[in-house]
Amino acid sequence: MPHTLDPALRRALVERVRYYHELGIYDFYRREPALGHSAEIGSAAAGSVQAASSASYSGSQSELREEMSARKSAAIPVVAEDNIFEIAAPKPEYGVADPATALKLIREDLGDCTRCKLHEQGRKQIVFGVGNARAELMFVGEGPGADEDAQGEPFVGRAGQLLNNMIKAMGLRREDVYIANIVKCRPPGNRTPERDECETCSPFLMRQIAVVKPKVIVALGAVAAKNLLAINAPMSELRGRWYDFKPAGVRSNDSAWPGARLAVTYHPAFLLRDPRQKGEAWKDLQMVMKYLGIEPPKKAAE
Ligand code: URA
Repeated sequence: MPHTLDPALRRALVERVRYYHELGIYDFYRREPALGHSAEIGSAAAGSVQAASSASYSGSQSELREEMSARKSAAIPVVAEDNIFEIAAPKPEYGVADPATALKLIREDLGDCTRCKLHEQGRKQIVFGVGNARAELMFVGEGPGADEDAQGEPFVGRAGQLLNNMIKAMGLRREDVYIANIVKCRPPGNRTPERDECETCSPFLMRQIAVVKPKVIVALGAVAAKNLLAINAPMSELRGRWYDFKPAGVRSNDSAWPGARLAVTYHPAFLLRDPRQKGEAWKDLQMVMKYLGIEPPKKAAE
């Protein structure tokens, strides 16, 4: 529920943020108060990400991630209703018309990031994101694995090969889409990224989304879906429908961009473990293709 700040409080907050800005502090993370209940599907939470609880992400095995029981999770990017921080601390990419340049500015702003503990837990490099800066379709995964950490690019390992095949089956090339993750540093042992790590990293993803302005975002797996949507639900409920998504806390250079539609499908790593679910994932991708007006490529034999 949007709320209006008292103008005096608002001014004071703006001043405070400016003050931090002068000290060189640019990134602010807001913790939601415990709500005592989780957001429900269809409650218009999509995009303007809200709702959270203090439940942690940690502890689950990657094998269990995809159909894990619902856990409360939420990325709370900077500022939901009242863009105090945006007013006081405009981002370097604001006003930059060329999206590739804007993405470079976000990457520069990220720097050699030490904002969360992942930087000291064995990451080799930051895995920012890759692809077409004007992509209509964006895929968001969970976080880099060993191959991505080594190469500095998302989805380049076995799961990446499968994602490439999925993209190809849609009649697209990897270069046509944009690919990123909820967290940009490899969690040790490929554990699920923890809530504070997601919260710290997601403002950068929100900025990437606002720059690329995709028509469709596909959340790969439960971790990506729950973070982007702040919805606590199992994959069986998250898939098979559209969500409206607008990155919270940032503004797009294109005020006419209405936001993206977001679909959820299985993570390619899950599909490698359970190939029987590939048909279901294909249904999700067909829904996306229909919306984007993409015809699947004709098979050579046809
Ligand atoms: N899994 C992810 O979620 N992201 C990657 O980049 C690679 C594997």
